[in-house]
Amino acid sequence: MMQEQITPGGDGWVPVSIGITAAVAVVAIIAGFAWLPLRQPGEEFRGVWDAICSAAGLVQVSPRAAQVVQADYPTTRIEVTPQMLHNPSAQSIGRGATLALRCTMCHGARGLSQADTPNLAGQFPIAIYKELMDFKSGARTSAVMGPLVSDLSDADMRDLAAYYAYLPRESEAQPAASAPPQIVANGAPLRGIAPCGSCHGALELKAGAAWLGGQPNDYLHAQLKAFSSGTRRNDIGEQMRNVARAMTAEEIDAASRFYADHP
Ligand code: HEC
Ligand code: HEC
Repeated sequence: MMQEQITPGGDGWVPVSIGITAAVAVVAIIAGFAWLPLRQPGEEFRGVWDAICSAAGLVQVSPRAAQVVQADYPTTRIEVTPQMLHNPSAQSIGRGATLALRCTMCHGARGLSQADTPNLAGQFPIAIYKELMDFKSGARTSAVMGPLVSDLSDADMRDLAAYYAYLPRESEAQPAASAPPQIVANGAPLRGIAPCGSCHGALELKAGAAWLGGQPNDYLHAQLKAFSSGTRRNDIGEQMRNVARAMTAEEIDAASRFYADHP
């Protein structure tokens, strides 16, 4: 029996098949990295190289993606960190006490208001400082507070924050009179609302969020309404607007009442 001889490349098919494979690869690369990305709706590339980089997963900036949508209203300029205003000096607290003489008329002699003005005693210093900065920049609008902060310097606001944070809160040891309503205790997971205490609690605190306990009911109610309607929009990343917008009127009533009754 004659053994058939297999000679590599002997019949000419091998170079042809290698050529076809190479051609398919080249066409696939061009289609995958250049043609398809360029045809993709909603993407605008500055050139073929941009499209190739995008298809390869390398970060590239298409002109459309580069357009950052700017809010047409003043937004907060403060970046808050949990370490901010930590350990204030005694001098800072003392200077704050002197500056606070012009605040007592509305916020009370020791930071506890008798009217519907928010209490400041024992408030987190970051929250006080941030709100003062926002009143000054116009990110948070208030016909009352706006003019009062216009001549305060950054150091003044830090001192005021240190002083008010140092003052004791209203009877902190008061026992809870009633269980928190559903919206406060559990939030509303299906509507994307986390429990209020996961950002406003003493243990779980989102930097910049205020202590709510003991604030006047009308004040809390008005702030929740203002966030949900968008008239207050100084919250970083719309954290609070997203929560308030998803709340029902009954939940706003219940949450305001609960916090007002539980210092
Ligand atoms: C004429 C009354 C008045 C005076 C004086 C006043 N405030 Fe206020 N303050 C208010 C009112 C009213 C609000 C609530 C504003 C709102 O509804 O948005 C407020 C809000 C605040 C807030 C925000 C509180 C929060 O929980 O978000 C801070 C902080 C504050 N004031 C600090 C001060 C400081 C510091 C001074 C003194 C330099 C001062 N205020 C003087 C009436 C006053
Ligand atoms: C994801 C975190 C988060 C959750 C959850 C959250 N908040 Fe807030 N809230 C914030 C932050 C941050 C601020 C401060 C906004 C700013 O920068 O002025 C704020 C501000 C507020 C204020 C204004 C306080 C003041 O004195 O200025 C009220 C009232 C409030 N929240 C109520 C609630 C209630 C009620 C709930 C639960 C239904 C809730 N929040 C859930 C983050 C949160």
